[in-house]
Amino acid sequence: MSNTDTEGFMRVVRHIQDEVDFEPEYYNEAYLNRRITARMRRQDVEEYDAYLSILKDDPSEKESLMDSLTINVTNFFRNGKMWEALRPVLRELTSEHRSVKAWSAPCADGREPYSLYMLALDDRQIDESRLSVLGTDISDEALENARAGTYETTRTTDIGEELSLLDDPEQYVDVEGNEFTVKPEVRRQVDFERHDLVQDGPKRNYDLIFCRNLLIYIDSEYKIPVFDTLTSSLKPGGYLVVGMTETVPQELRDDFEAVSKRCRIYKYTPEDR
Ligand SMILES: C[S@@+](CC[C@H](N)C(=O)[O-])C[C@H]1O[C@@H](n2cnc3c(N)ncnc32)[C@H](O)[C@@H]1O
Repeated sequence: MSNTDTEGFMRVVRHIQDEVDFEPEYYNEAYLNRRITARMRRQDVEEYDAYLSILKDDPSEKESLMDSLTINVTNFFRNGKMWEALRPVLRELTSEHRSVKAWSAPCADGREPYSLYMLALDDRQIDESRLSVLGTDISDEALENARAGTYETTRTTDIGEELSLLDDPEQYVDVEGNEFTVKPEVRRQVDFERHDLVQDGPKRNYDLIFCRNLLIYIDSEYKIPVFDTLTSSLKPGGYLVVGMTETVPQELRDDFEAVSKRCRIYKYTPEDR
């Protein structure tokens, strides 16, 4: 079975390191293996070396592999319960601070930061005029899609359903057939830029950071550096949201207080140490 061919797997990984615009070292092997074998299945090959030959000969496979490795799967209001649990946090933040800075890292195609801003517009007790939202990602293509703000209902993605947490989605999104485009007045309120969470270091004075559905793929060696970036970017008393299957590393638990353990919303409380 190709899956037990560790050396063959490592040859593919080394090739990615040298030839593909992606840093395999950041990610855990189980994740890399799942993405590579998914491409092998698509190419109908069972051996890593056979796949490596295709990768070397066919530039379009390099692109497909890059797409597969940067899994930018996302939704509007992904994990609806988390967004419901976030409402009181946003109400409190925007009533207590004149300016509230939120960062969605990574933001993939922008649906997460747009969800945040649309929720603020839609919930009367959240003062959206005090909120600024930044979305960042390592993928230029994802950022391009995020800036365009157009999403399509397909066989597997129902955008109308994703937006149903809002009272009045059509106030924020133009709908034409299967195509949903975030209105320019919403798009203008969300900035996007490229940022690598492993390499690019912290930002400053954020009140709320989402870091959802990336940490599960990151190699354990890089998790603490990513968390250092997140905590250095947060104000004391700010909030961090991680993905539903992710947790704050043991070493840093004392710096966080769970607001909703189930929804993975934490308050950053380093001063309480
Ligand atoms: C599964 S999406 C998560 C999107 C969103 N946070 C969510 O939960 O729906 C993961 C994203 O992480 C991005 N990514 C991968 N490695 C990264 C890194 N080192 N720094 C920043 N973004 C990264 C990918 O490009 C992809 O868009």
